[in-house]
Formats: sequence, structure tokens, C-alpha cells
Amino acid sequence: MKKIRKELILNVYENWDKLTSEDQSIMQKAIDQLDLAYAPYSNFYVGAALVLNNGNVYVGCNQENASYPLCMCGERVALYNAVANEPKFLIKTIAITARNPVKKLVEPISPCGACRQVMLEFELRQQAPIRVLLKADEAEIYEFESVKDLLPFAFNGSFL
Ligand code: THU
Repeated sequence: MKKIRKELILNVYENWDKLTSEDQSIMQKAIDQLDLAYAPYSNFYVGAALVLNNGNVYVGCNQENASYPLCMCGERVALYNAVANEPKFLIKTIAITARNPVKKLVEPISPCGACRQVMLEFELRQQAPIRVLLKADEAEIYEFESVKDLLPFAFNGSFL
């Protein structure tokens, strides 16, 4: 028997002021999405914004449905929005945030497993890392330099 140790690296920014102005701008667009989320069932609001290497920004927010399994996460709405509009450009950074009206979030939102898997597919497809910025309320902000750091031991097309 042997053990495999995987290293997880993320950068932590103490607060909003520590972000670059470019990151503040992309995160602000994610925050703006919180007001547009359609989440009448969970009342949990998720906003996402991503910037491409041509500078254009695409946004998304969660979209729920009375048939619960059909709910779509904000991250995936943003990703599909971007690729449907500008498939030829690389995604540089995706900023993700959330709001729970009845509870202050004390740590950044953690994207669900499905969104991590989808983000990973985008990263592998474009052959360049996607930075992931995570924020919630006044908590410190997490930066992952690659989706791979968010999803170790990922399933990927090489298995097929
Ligand atoms: N949600 C997201 O939009 N992204 C995530 O990464 C986790 C969960 C949404 C789905 C649902 O509308 C609500 O948050 C509660 O799960």
C-alpha cells in the first residue's frame, strides 16, 4: 500500500481592497447578478461573471425550476452564455459569489461538484487554466489559479 498526497494551492485575499481593479470589476459583475437570480425555491442566490482573453465579460445567475432537478447553477449559466456567444476566445477568470438572505456567509461559496466538472471541461478544452475567484459577503476571497486545484482526481475525456 502506498499513499498519494495531492497538494491544493489557493491564494487568499483578506478583503475587497486587496483585489486588483480588474478582479474587483469582474467580481462586481458577479455581485450584480445576485439581484437577477431566479431562486424562489431555495432563496439562495448565485452570481457569476467571466472574462475572456479579448476582454469581454459574460455573466450568469442561478435559474431554478419547480421541478427541482432542472435548476441550473449560476456558474454554468455564465459559462454556456460565453461559449455560445464567443466560442473562439479563452476564459481567463471566472468570479463567483452567493447571497443567503437569512444567513451571513462566513466563507466563500464553494462551487458544486457539477459546476467544477463543467469548468474543468472548459479548461481542458481551451488548454489554458481558468482562474476561479470565490467570494461571499465579507469573507476573505479565494483564488484558484486553475480549476484542477478545485477538482483533484477529476473524471475527464481521457478515460473514454
Ligand atoms: N447553486 C449554484 O448556482 N451554484 C453552485 O455552485 C451551488 C448551488 C444554486 C443552485 C440552486 O439554485 C441554489 O444554488 C441552491 O442550491
